[in-house]
Amino acid sequence: MSVERSVLAAPRHIAIIMDGNGRWAQQRLLPRAVGHHAGVKAVRKIVEYCAADSQIEVLSLFAFSSENWRRPETEVTLLMRLFLTTLQDEIDRLHKNNIRLRFIGDRTAFDSALQQKMTEGELKTQHNTALTLVIAANYGGRWDMTQACKIVSQRIASGELSPCAINETILNQHLCLADLPEPDLFIRTGGEQRVSNFMLWQLAYTELYFTQTLWPDFNQAALQEAITSFKSRQRRFGHTGDQIAALATP
Ligand code: IPE
Ligand code: IPE
Ligand code: MG
Repeated sequence: MSVERSVLAAPRHIAIIMDGNGRWAQQRLLPRAVGHHAGVKAVRKIVEYCAADSQIEVLSLFAFSSENWRRPETEVTLLMRLFLTTLQDEIDRLHKNNIRLRFIGDRTAFDSALQQKMTEGELKTQHNTALTLVIAANYGGRWDMTQACKIVSQRIASGELSPCAINETILNQHLCLADLPEPDLFIRTGGEQRVSNFMLWQLAYTELYFTQTLWPDFNQAALQEAITSFKSRQRRFGHTGDQIAALATP
């Protein structure tokens, strides 16, 4: 992103770690599953908001991390089922709303019905333009960088690329989000202040926003608050504050 564009601009790409579903349910003495179902409802509202805002081009949501397999088997099974039923219910609606769906992560670990639905959703919505909705599923930032390194190594082994030619641009070309703008605004709900292996490369210059709000309670007003905080910040990308201020004045 160029420095000029960054001054008080709205975020083009928002990336969210949707955390706190389990605690939301536990606070109500309900099973964690209820929290995950409530989390899906929150997703619907946030997607709707972002699709309606013409300045937001990409919304990335962390749905299942490469580490989430460590959860109890019952919870993993529940999340997989919820993932599949949500896709079954939502793909048509996303398509109607002109939203392009995209998945990042190692999908080979999912069962074939789920993989099929993911591909179907991507194909059906591939030409939509209101918003790109990126769902990170069995995704990890380290996995992303590792798979990019594998591809680059294959290109070197085949003689197509010289090791001296490797630079950030080449590595970036093989990362999952190569064709999309980097996240401008990162939001994590649920009170934890960590990145949990999400988009490690892409977050290099992203503005971070943490909120105590648990994901099922995160609504359009809460998102607006995060965007307002983003707009109040001066993104310097290594420059001084005075340099950025000079660029902003006509
Ligand atoms: C986020 O909520 C959803 C997923 C990781 C799938 P959590 O399930 O992590 O909720 P907490 O952190 O236990 O409250
Ligand atoms: C991160 O949340 C992953 C998703 C939201 C999908 P976690 O709740 O799994 O993160 P940690 O383990 O507490 O860092
Ligand atoms: Mg959590």
